[in-house]
Amino acid sequence: MNPAVSLPVDGGFLRPLIEPDVNQAYVDGLNDPHVNRFLDSVKSSLQTIQSASDFVAADRASSTSVLWGVWVDGHANHVGTVRLHGIEHRHGTAHIGVCIFDRQYWGRGLGSAAIAAATRWAFEALELRWIEAGAYEANVASQRAFLSAGYAWVFDIPGKYLLEGEPTTVKVFAARRQKAIGA
Ligand SMILES: CC(C)(COP(=O)(O)OP(=O)(O)OC[C@H]1O[C@@H](n2cnc3c(N)ncnc32)[C@H](O)[C@@H]1OP(=O)(O)O)[C@@H](O)C(=O)NCCC(=O)NCCS
Repeated sequence: MNPAVSLPVDGGFLRPLIEPDVNQAYVDGLNDPHVNRFLDSVKSSLQTIQSASDFVAADRASSTSVLWGVWVDGHANHVGTVRLHGIEHRHGTAHIGVCIFDRQYWGRGLGSAAIAAATRWAFEALELRWIEAGAYEANVASQRAFLSAGYAWVFDIPGKYLLEGEPTTVKVFAARRQKAIGA
């Protein structure tokens, strides 16, 4: 999905990614083991300009996902992404993932701001009612970012997924639209 919408966040904005946004810094960030430690599919193969462009193109063509780039003021290229996927209108649900791939921007509130902006848009524009994210138990930054963005822990999945070859717990967080009727 490629909605013509730019969403402001404190100190920057989100805008749906298009293929010309793919650059070497984005690809290098995705291949950085500190960045992709908890990103299963990203680290499953070496990312390239081609693979990242294919991902952006597939997302634009998909009716069930939106991939935004995260821009900070004064920086020409995006420094992260936030993605709604698995959008399901029947139940009003979707999944969300976030990655600030430029590590110099970690810890500045950008991850939680990007999550909050994309979530608000999903509630208002798509009228979804439940957005969820899974975070490996060891990914404390991710869990705190979701909590700061207004998500609440809903359940754990113990032992189903492997992290670095070992069964671990995935913690699931959800944001629910605050609406009395039909929520
Ligand atoms: C997870 C990620 C998006 C967080 O983004 P960020 O911009 O650094 O996060 P924020 O600055 O918004 O911080 C959110 C919270 O996490 C905390 N936090 C940030 N980095 C942390 C760290 N390394 N360890 C513990 N807490 C951390 C912040 O203090 C803040 O907590 P608070 O709101 O309770 O004060 C970012 O680290 C990232 O892209 N990691 C790699 C990809 C990834 O793991 N994505 C998530 C997959 S589920």
